[in-house]
Amino acid sequence: VTRQIKDLRTPIICVMGHVDHGKTSMLDKIRGTTVTDIEAGEITQHIGATEVPLYTIESLCKGVLPGNIEVPGLLFIDTPGHHAFTTLRSRGGALSDLAVLVIDIIDGFQPQTDEALKILKQYKTPFIIAANKIDRIPGWRVNPSFSFTKTFESQPDNVKNALDNRIYDLAGKLSAYGFSADRYDRIRDFTRTIGIVPISARTGEGIPDLLMVLVGLAQKFLEKNLKLHVTGPGVGTVLEVKEDKGLGYSIDTIIYDGEIRTGDTIVIGGKEKPIVTKVRALLKPMPNRELRIVEKFDHVDRVTASAGVKILASDLDKAMAGSHLRVAREGMLNALIKEIESEIERA
Ligand code: GTP
Ligand code: MG
Repeated sequence: VTRQIKDLRTPIICVMGHVDHGKTSMLDKIRGTTVTDIEAGEITQHIGATEVPLYTIESLCKGVLPGNIEVPGLLFIDTPGHHAFTTLRSRGGALSDLAVLVIDIIDGFQPQTDEALKILKQYKTPFIIAANKIDRIPGWRVNPSFSFTKTFESQPDNVKNALDNRIYDLAGKLSAYGFSADRYDRIRDFTRTIGIVPISARTGEGIPDLLMVLVGLAQKFLEKNLKLHVTGPGVGTVLEVKEDKGLGYSIDTIIYDGEIRTGDTIVIGGKEKPIVTKVRALLKPMPNRELRIVEKFDHVDRVTASAGVKILASDLDKAMAGSHLRVAREGMLNALIKEIESEIERA
């Protein structure tokens, strides 16, 4: 039985890595979706946000989850791996509390793997490695949805060695960045050593282990960071400005701090000057569904961090993707306008 503290902020987990290394596939396996199938050429071109509730994580982990988990769930941010999207990757990295760096275990380190590591280092973001596509190791015996430790036991010795050699290889590359890393089940202190979790996004092997390590890390992280509690007026980032059939202009946002309600006055970065407007409606995707592609939303009165939410309001046509959004409560408006103005000048 898990105990949940009220008003605890959902940690934001950024999924990063080189193109085609399996970021979206990994999230599809966790969410029970097939987002990769609807992407043109299976290439992610936007930042996505999905709330994965604790009950989904518990059911995928089948009993390996420790009992003291208080996180309400995880908000996953999917980022594009294609080299053209550096700005979006950096934006995703800046937003996140923790990260999963996905590396194709056959393909190894690639240019955007390096780039992601630089971003993680710059923002001092704690992260783990998902060493993906273990099913492609020659001779691999597939045990769908098994934990890594169970499926590893059932492999012949030469396959076990092949996997471990590739893990050593990754650890060696990471040490060049000053990170010490090891296979996660050989690590005692995850604050000192980066965990490498072997997974297959195709067969689901290792997904329970990945979630267990991630939730454990998130739990430790929030115990240390009081800012993970939801307090005060909402702060967020604009992911995309959209014109939807029948809805007019809306913005897809991630609220990463505080709370936002319908009727709130918000200040957003605009193309020339800050936009001040009132929240007409807040649209939340269902759990395990991604903000950038869902068609069905829950209309809600309030949203607490962290969450992906579509906001309807007037004057959003000039809103700028990548800018901040702030809720103005009593007496705050002028200061917030100044703040957003100086952000626009710096951009
Ligand atoms: P971008 O978003 O464009 O950067 O790519 P991505 O990292 O999201 O990769 P994606 O999930 O789209 O997967 C790329 C290809 O690798 C797809 O054809 C997947 O089916 C395949 N793939 C992903 N994970 C696995 C895996 O564990 N095993 C195997 N065999 N194939 C996989
Ligand atoms: Mg993708």
